[in-house]
Amino acid sequence: MEYDTNNWIRDGVYYYPHLFGGIMLTAALLGLSTSYFGGISVPSLPYFLHDVGIFRKKKRGKKRIRVYMDGCFDLMHYGHANALRQAKALGDELVVGVVSDEEIIANKGPPVLSLEERLILVSGLKWVDEVISNAPYDINEEFMNRLFNEHKIDYIIHGDDPCLLPDGTDAYALAKKAGRYKQIKRTEGVSSTDIVGRILASVKDMKVCEAHEGSSLHGEPDNTNNNRGEGSHAKGGHISHFLPTSRRIVQFSNGGKGPCPNARVVYIDGAFDLFHAGHVEILKSARQLGDFLLVGIHSDQTVSEQRGLHHPIMHLHERSLSVLACRYADEVIMGAPWEVTKDMITTFNISLVVRGTVAESNLFLNGKADQYEVPKSMGIFQMLESPKSITTTSVAQRIVANHEIYVQRNAKKEASEKKYYAERKYVSGD
Ligand SMILES: *[C@@H]1O[C@H](CO)[C@@H](O)[C@H](O)[C@H]1NC(C)=O
Repeated sequence: MEYDTNNWIRDGVYYYPHLFGGIMLTAALLGLSTSYFGGISVPSLPYFLHDVGIFRKKKRGKKRIRVYMDGCFDLMHYGHANALRQAKALGDELVVGVVSDEEIIANKGPPVLSLEERLILVSGLKWVDEVISNAPYDINEEFMNRLFNEHKIDYIIHGDDPCLLPDGTDAYALAKKAGRYKQIKRTEGVSSTDIVGRILASVKDMKVCEAHEGSSLHGEPDNTNNNRGEGSHAKGGHISHFLPTSRRIVQFSNGGKGPCPNARVVYIDGAFDLFHAGHVEILKSARQLGDFLLVGIHSDQTVSEQRGLHHPIMHLHERSLSVLACRYADEVIMGAPWEVTKDMITTFNISLVVRGTVAESNLFLNGKADQYEVPKSMGIFQMLESPKSITTTSVAQRIVANHEIYVQRNAKKEASEKKYYAERKYVSGD
């Protein structure tokens, strides 16, 4: 896939790289004209239509408000997703700028995820309509004018944390002066820094385990003397600040819509820990096999039993939000059973159960029954070629491989985040 040399359309999300002249304009026009008619030009993607069709029809004739938000989206999490959800609510069309690898390296050190992986994650979000790749790290005047003139952006959106340019001036001063700046509230309780911290802490814990017990790299699921979950995170001092609320889950859900009559329901399950590009791609493939994708998310205890004491990195509610934010997931089961039972298949009218070929190795399966025995015996089980080889472990390993750099970077950021949490006050909004 070419991200840098041409414009392209993916799943109804329009892409254009920054630093383009004539071609970009064409793509922008195409983007406007097709999206205006509710994405009818993308017939193979009924969910896209479903998502925006009705809403768009209502608005026909009125000028559509285009809003822009940018970011690195490295180790993208539901906090980013929530920010983009809020940004989208301030307009009709959300355009997202994704910062290039080079710019991230220059400004804060190497990203964990490549631009391609970050683009897949961002465009997989159900609130995103267009993507501009290779956005600059600092929003400069030239780029801002480009957003207003070429991309027809009405408002630039940013979180409530201050964003200063290297010379100490407010990066959004110009947009503010022009009355084209809007602010959203920062999502509390999670940050990439925090996630990196959790991964590094879990690695440190594993090393301690090894030294003490001589156990394998992954540690043994020791269920006799544990109080895991809190345990593994607390040890490294990385207790999640995130408080899952019912409102947040509702905001991320598809408005309570179930499958339409006669819909073909596809089921896929897993841990979906450290939600990554591989997850987006497999959910997309699974969704294309039916009309409704039901995603089973295993409980923290189940994941821990299968993968060891230090898993999952993200707890059940966090993992559920990440999956819900993905445009290909229609519904999730929070804490799905390990085995796909006959009862589940009947309850949800599941027509097909799928599993990706690339999956996390489950270390402690010895002697356990095949979790897909029932769907296999019913002839409704299918292996699905995983489009990407990335796994949760491989993402964690990248962080571990660059351990030193991330530890340093994290220490700095953790200090400023601690300060943020200590000093913060109530801000209204959602
Ligand atoms: C159950 O799913 C099948 C498709 O696999 C569909 O034909 C049938 O109508 C569904 N049942 C209901 C009650 O929706």
